[in-house]
Amino acid sequence: MGNLYVFDHPLIQHKLSYIRDKNTGTKEFRELVDEVAMLMAYEITRNMPLEEIEVETPVTKCKSKVISGKKVGLVPILRAGIGMVDGVLKLIPAAKVGHVGLYRDPDTLQPIEYYLKLPSDVTEREFIVIDPMLATGGSAVAALTALKKRGARHIKLMCLVSAPQGIEKVQEEHPDVDIYVAAVDEGLNDHGYIVPGLGDAGDRLFGTK
Ligand code: URA
Repeated sequence: MGNLYVFDHPLIQHKLSYIRDKNTGTKEFRELVDEVAMLMAYEITRNMPLEEIEVETPVTKCKSKVISGKKVGLVPILRAGIGMVDGVLKLIPAAKVGHVGLYRDPDTLQPIEYYLKLPSDVTEREFIVIDPMLATGGSAVAALTALKKRGARHIKLMCLVSAPQGIEKVQEEHPDVDIYVAAVDEGLNDHGYIVPGLGDAGDRLFGTK
């Protein structure tokens, strides 16, 4: 089964509290999500492999370390995932960015893929699928399935707030995918919203209702 990492760094938890607050307006909400995404990216990249190179400082030559290994691909799930992309790109600026769009079929309630664009070298990349809210897990599972169908082999899932149901579903359907979150909340209400959660992440990011 994939690992679950819950980031309890004080800065992440502090900022998340203001993200949750219903009185936080769009501008501040967007800025806070961006900052938390950057802090989460710092934690997610903690185990990136390093290789030694030779560097010449103004004083002498020395061996020094740089990141090696697979290149990174970010894949936000439309639309709320977009709100976390820039924060991650601040720390991994060379990452390529794909997108996956899903809607829920009103009859079957199943997520249907309506858009998918990935970098061409899919099999070579380490992907981070991004969605602020891991609620039922339906969208995350569908997005992970869509990436694997196109050849992606190394995928992480990054979410701000999660519900236990969503975590369980992803772990069941994609046991190879590690999940990174800032919080695991109590559960879901009858409308599929995370409780206590933060409301509709897309609406709060983009100022829509
Ligand atoms: N999507 C959201 O934006 N919020 C939730 O609470 C659940 C899903």
